[in-house]
Amino acid sequence: MEKIRVGIIGTGGISQSHTEGYQRIPNVELVACCDINEEKVKQYAEKYGFARWYTDCHEMMAKEELDCVSVCTWNSAHMECTIAALDGGANVICEKPMAMNAAEAQKMKEAADRNGKLLQVGFVRRFGLDADTFFKFKNEGMVGDVYYAKAQYLRRSGCPGGWFKDKAFSGGGPLIDLGVHVIDLARYLAGNPKPVEAFGVTYDNLGPNRAGGGEMAWNADDSGEHPYNVEDMVSALIKFDNGFTLQVEASFNLNVPRDVGFVTMFGTKAGVNIADHVELYTDAATMFVDIKPTGNTGFDFRGAFNAEIAGFVDAAMNGAACRASAEDGVELMKIIDAIYESAKVRHSVAID
Ligand SMILES: NC(=O)c1ccc[n+]([C@@H]2O[C@H](COP(=O)([O-])OP(=O)(O)OC[C@H]3O[C@@H](n4cnc5c(N)ncnc54)[C@H](O)[C@@H]3O)[C@@H](O)[C@H]2O)c1
Repeated sequence: MEKIRVGIIGTGGISQSHTEGYQRIPNVELVACCDINEEKVKQYAEKYGFARWYTDCHEMMAKEELDCVSVCTWNSAHMECTIAALDGGANVICEKPMAMNAAEAQKMKEAADRNGKLLQVGFVRRFGLDADTFFKFKNEGMVGDVYYAKAQYLRRSGCPGGWFKDKAFSGGGPLIDLGVHVIDLARYLAGNPKPVEAFGVTYDNLGPNRAGGGEMAWNADDSGEHPYNVEDMVSALIKFDNGFTLQVEASFNLNVPRDVGFVTMFGTKAGVNIADHVELYTDAATMFVDIKPTGNTGFDFRGAFNAEIAGFVDAAMNGAACRASAEDGVELMKIIDAIYESAKVRHSVAID
């Protein structure tokens, strides 16, 4: 069987989950990795056994023949690195958020189309046990038509620090970093409807100088290299073409008693809550009934990344269906753009 030649661009924190996902796949060859930080990329190549390392992704793509490339850089480099990898003949999985905005995401999609290559977006929540469990209920007809959803991803004090708090590198704060996960998950569970309108508000009242007592308290990580100029929190309402509506809140800093993360989908036959586990609320035999599957149905970080990378390789090499397409990435970036725009102009914004 032919080798699957893999490259990584951006060898920071999350790239390890990609590389460890590739390592589980038979016939994978870890060919090359790239980071603008030479010390970091050298160590990474050694740790994982990549044959060669580079500090410039254009040079890597010119010198190597790669089948599958993961783009795991900070957000502002996603477009450049993804287009370089696609133009260099590779299939690409690019981390979330797909780009800084929808215009960049569209150019990335066009590069994939132009080269006849796959571009998958790192919507890892689509590969979780919780999403699979939702569809088990849905496909049995137990949820009915989903018409409304609520999602929260709130941290009391949980900005990851570094470039994440610098808009020029991240494109924004909790909306583009955390909100993107739960907005995409809700849209995926609702069958990927097309967004048509968004109303949003953002606030930046609290900033980085928070007490250290939050559950995450990541703000302590601050070398002073990057300014803190992203929003603390966002609240938004998103409408879709099939009548589905999503209400979402996300924060790096908010005076909540504890960090919160959930997506609740409301259908004509049941509501389904996705948090630490999956629970279904319905009625049966003239009673209200709650159903909680036994066993683990929560989001498993490692398992979901392994499934995401396996799915990407299968789609790239064998033509299997892609679960998180470039088109989904563009639609998500249109939602993000519209919410930021709405917060600025103070009224709802239509999405094309
Ligand atoms: N799916 C998830 O759950 C998840 C979790 C964490 C991060 N992420 C996403 O992954 C991406 C990376 O996040 P991270 O936490 O690993 O950040 P990180 O800061 O740990 O790593 C980013 C790396 O990219 C490198 N880089 C920047 N520009 C580059 C370029 N042009 N060429 C090569 N290397 C470049 C940096 O030097 C750095 O080493 C972000 O887009 C983030 O949103 C996703």
